[in-house]
Amino acid sequence: MKLTQTSSQQKQTVDFFDSVAVEYDNKYRSKDAFYSYFFWQRIFEATADIDFHEKAILDVGCGTGQLYNFLNSRIKDIDYSGSDISQNMLIQSKIPANCQYAGNLYQLDFRGKLFDIVFMLGVSTYMTKEEWNANLSKINSILKPGGKFIVSFTNKNSFDYKMRMLGQVPARFFKKDNKVIGRKFVIHSYSLTEIEQNLDGFKIDQVKWLNQTIFPFNKIFPVLSVKIADKINRNSKGRILETMSSDFLVFTTKL
Ligand SMILES: C[S@@+](CC[C@H](N)C(=O)[O-])C[C@H]1O[C@@H](n2cnc3c(N)ncnc32)[C@H](O)[C@@H]1O
Repeated sequence: MKLTQTSSQQKQTVDFFDSVAVEYDNKYRSKDAFYSYFFWQRIFEATADIDFHEKAILDVGCGTGQLYNFLNSRIKDIDYSGSDISQNMLIQSKIPANCQYAGNLYQLDFRGKLFDIVFMLGVSTYMTKEEWNANLSKINSILKPGGKFIVSFTNKNSFDYKMRMLGQVPARFFKKDNKVIGRKFVIHSYSLTEIEQNLDGFKIDQVKWLNQTIFPFNKIFPVLSVKIADKINRNSKGRILETMSSDFLVFTTKL
C-alpha cells in the first residue's frame, strides 16, 4: 500500500516529538526509577539473546538513537541505520549522518540495501492502521530471507492502559504540550490476538510482556511500583501477566 499524504495525526506526532527532542534523552538518564525501568527494560529485552555479529540492523522510529548507543558500545563495526519522522529527534542522536533516514519508512529509499534485523520500539503506538500496513509491507521487502522483525506494542488489555485512558480526561484540563498523557493525538493500542492477525508475511517466534506497573501509581510511587513489577514479572504468567503488562514485544521472522 502506498500512502501519498501524511496524515494529520502524523503531523501532530511529528510536532510533539520535534518539541520534546532536546529533553528526550533525560528519560533514559533519569534518576526516576520508573522511567529508568521502563526505557531500559524495553532495550534489554528486545536485544537479549540476539546474535548481532555481522548483521545489518534497521531501527525504525530510532528517536534520539538510544538503541544505536547501546549496540554501538557492544558491537564492533556495527552496521546500523535509523529512521524517524521527527528530524529534531534524529538531530539529537549520535547516529552517523549517512546512517540517518528522515521520513516515513514506506517512502524511504535504501538503494537496494537489505537488513537482517529490523527494530521498531515504542513506535507502533503512533501509527494509524494504514501507516502500520504500509510500513509492515516495506519491512518485508527490505528484510533478507529469514530476517527478524522485533516490534513493541501498547497493550490494549492492560490495567495500565485503561487507567491512562481514564486519566486522559482530567489531564487535558491541565495539559502541558510536552507530556504524552495530556497530548491531543490518538495513541494506538492492540491486543496480542489483534497483532497475530495483522502480521502478514511474518511468523511470531516469541512474545515478551513489558512494564508491570500501573498509572498513576508508577508516577506517585516509582520505586515501589518497579519493585512490585519485578515480582509480578517473575512470578506470573498467562492472562495475569498479560493484564499487568502495559506493553509487549513481539519477535518475528520473515516468512
Ligand atoms: C517513544 S519514541 C521511541 C524512540 C526509540 N525507538 C526509543 O526506544 O528510544 C517514538 C519515536 O517514534 C517516532 N515515530 C512516530 N511515528 C513514526 C512513524 N510513523 N514512522 C517513524 N517514526 C515514527 C517518533 O518521532 C519518536 O522519535
